[in-house]
Amino acid sequence: MELSILLNTGVTDNPSDILIFFGRIHPLVVHFPIGFLILAALVEITTKWAKFQPLKNYIHYLWGLGSISSLFAILFGYFLSLSGDYNENTVFLHKWSGVALFLFSSICYYISKRQIKLPFYGKSILILIIVFTVFYTGHLGGNLTHGSTYLFEYAPNSIRSLVGMPKKEIPRKKVTVLDSADVYLDLISPIMNNRCVSCHNQDKKKGDLDLTSYANLMKGGENGDVVIPNDAEASDFYRRITLPESHDDFMPSEGKKPLTKNEVLLIGWWINNNAPSNGYFSQLNPDKEIISKAKNILGLDKNNLFNKKVSPPKKEIIDSLSSQGFILNKLMKDNYYLEANFSLSEKSITPKGFETILQLKGQLIWLNLNHSNITDEYLMKIGQLENLIKLNVSRNNISDKGLMHLSGLQNLESLNLYETNVSDSLLTVIPKLINLKRLYLSGSKANDSIINELKKKNEKLRIIFD
Ligand code: HEC
Repeated sequence: MELSILLNTGVTDNPSDILIFFGRIHPLVVHFPIGFLILAALVEITTKWAKFQPLKNYIHYLWGLGSISSLFAILFGYFLSLSGDYNENTVFLHKWSGVALFLFSSICYYISKRQIKLPFYGKSILILIIVFTVFYTGHLGGNLTHGSTYLFEYAPNSIRSLVGMPKKEIPRKKVTVLDSADVYLDLISPIMNNRCVSCHNQDKKKGDLDLTSYANLMKGGENGDVVIPNDAEASDFYRRITLPESHDDFMPSEGKKPLTKNEVLLIGWWINNNAPSNGYFSQLNPDKEIISKAKNILGLDKNNLFNKKVSPPKKEIIDSLSSQGFILNKLMKDNYYLEANFSLSEKSITPKGFETILQLKGQLIWLNLNHSNITDEYLMKIGQLENLIKLNVSRNNISDKGLMHLSGLQNLESLNLYETNVSDSLLTVIPKLINLKRLYLSGSKANDSIINELKKKNEKLRIIFD
């Protein structure tokens, strides 16, 4: 079985694991012939000096080692090529220049050992060819592993143009306003760059499909067009990202992280809108749903609270809250966002005193009122603290009626409702808290069906309930 694979000259569909295992030793083995052959060439040069003359007697060992190690490199390299993961043309050149190295170094071994004199600088020319071939083979090998642009990727544009590479691409500015987003360059292309081009590029062109540019995407793959404008359902591209993950054709393959629902939806929408190569996103008249998906993908829906500078709080307010039993902490070095914590206080809050906290509306982002005897009435005021990111109102006598007041807290990421009386209103309020990531409900009046419903509405929300 193994033998038959070995004898097979082309790339086999299913090389056995053991061969690929050996193949992966190739990158280690190749450094031996490189070292031996370069050393042999250097020693050949130095023996021109009388001082190094004695080395002449040993030089054939170096050529011999170079020749044998290149034979191993060729063998392991061949195994590695069976995996078919590499650009065929480059593999072809790499393989045969490796074989040439083996032949040339064997000849050098032979003539050094036998002390044969080649006519007309024959040996010097041969050595020159060997040195050149070592570099050339090594360079091709580098291209195979790292892609042909690896070496010059970070070179200055002047050097890049010498080797026929285009100027470095200036990365697109991060989109900050949806209206300035280009539909392909800012939305569709980054999705492919993140999830697809590792297997679909010039050097690694799985399925003969290159997804690094619009033009190449439209060229399609080995089975023809993959995007059919205005018909997502008929597009292989769309079909493969919407299949069940376990399906053989599913993309990205090999268990790589799939596209998010939003990304899939947006790609479908883009194809059905004629799959344009550029143009403003907003010019395609996206509906509300698509706009919100696009914002999500561009990260424009995240709270941008931290980009804002808030002014320092008034001293009287801080003093007043402290005297009531609040502990206040500044949360950032160069901004005045604050945490207020009443959970450790021995005193009790009064509705009148609590009014003061509204004067910290801009600064307050964490509020801890655990076990503080607050009621629904307080939640009405908390609902006005629109910058809150973390809110803990656990172990208080709070009901559905109070919870309703919190539905405007668009920045809220964490909400603790342990041991409160909230239940059905969760279904109304929680889906409105678009940034909520964690919800604590143990000991509340919520039940399994409410929890399941909440999970269905927002898969990303982590609910702690037991
Ligand atoms: C881990 C490697 C890998 C990743 C990542 C990957 N693909 Fe593929 N893709 C393949 C392989 C291998 C094939 C060829 C085998 C096949 O057709 O299933 C292929 C084939 C395809 C084809 C069919 C081309 C044709 O004409 O037959 C499409 C379309 C495709 N991929 C789209 C994508 C998209 C879109 C992504 C990103 C969401 C992606 N691929 C990510 C490995 C990958």
